[in-house]
Amino acid sequence: MSADTLRGRRIIITGGASGMGEGLVRAFPAYGATVVSMDLDAVAGEAVAAAAGALAFLPVDVCDAVSVRNAVDAAVARMGGLDVLIHAAGVAPSARAEDMSLDFWNRVIAVNATGTMLMNQAVFPHLKSAGGAILNFASAAGVNGHPGKAAYAAAKGAVLSWNRSIAAEWASHRITVNAIAPAIWTPMYDKTRSEMSAEDLALHDAQKLRAIPLGGKLGDVARDFTPVMTFLASEGARFMTGQIIAIDGGMVMSR
Ligand SMILES: NC(=O)c1ccc[n+]([C@@H]2O[C@H](COP(=O)([O-])OP(=O)(O)OC[C@H]3O[C@@H](n4cnc5c(N)ncnc54)[C@H](O)[C@@H]3O)[C@@H](O)[C@H]2O)c1
Repeated sequence: MSADTLRGRRIIITGGASGMGEGLVRAFPAYGATVVSMDLDAVAGEAVAAAAGALAFLPVDVCDAVSVRNAVDAAVARMGGLDVLIHAAGVAPSARAEDMSLDFWNRVIAVNATGTMLMNQAVFPHLKSAGGAILNFASAAGVNGHPGKAAYAAAKGAVLSWNRSIAAEWASHRITVNAIAPAIWTPMYDKTRSEMSAEDLALHDAQKLRAIPLGGKLGDVARDFTPVMTFLASEGARFMTGQIIAIDGGMVMSR
């Protein structure tokens, strides 16, 4: 990567206040990108964007069509166009399948699945004349399922099907659409760990040791995740679409 890898790329990053989105907001300006960060958490989002040298932070609730449309239109106006959407905002709460409430299910689907649809629809008019890249966040859970997180797994499965559909629909506009399936250590993963009993955590760690051939645990945002995303956000990735790109130390492969 060099200071020119993302030169001239105008990029919206959702989930910019934490975890992987935050990592990209911090890294991309140094590669020449113009970045607008978005998140529900305006306090952390503003602080990260300011420290990183991003062009702007804009608050958004990705479940709310009006909020999404206003934020995307404002970001595009500020940047003078758009080349890439990286849609990392998401939630992954746990609940047993047999007694999760309808409100819980609706909320998890709204943020992860409906939020992806709304963000993608909102950027489409800004990408359709010159083309560009959409990078949505799926999960190994969307492929394999995830005991204890069935609503989340269902939402990420929906993201994968949506992705493949719009990759085909929007290819004629030279819009590429790929899904990231990460296994990266972030505050979301810390929260998942904090919800486990000591016994379950020990089992979980032992399972990851077997399931992740490269190192036996989730990867690091800066070393393992950002370099791949920098390439995927660059012009060099223009001939890739409809793919699930696992950045997971070999976890999906090893099942
Ligand atoms: N960490 C992993 O290993 C892992 C694995 C598989 C998939 N993912 C997916 O990767 C993406 C990034 O995850 P992360 O680990 O960086 O999580 P994170 O919790 O660190 O960050 C997620 C961000 O999304 C924001 N957000 C939540 N709801 C929102 C809403 N309604 N509107 C706008 N912003 C909202 C949060 O405020 C937070 O800043 C998520 O979509 C997640 O499901 C993560």
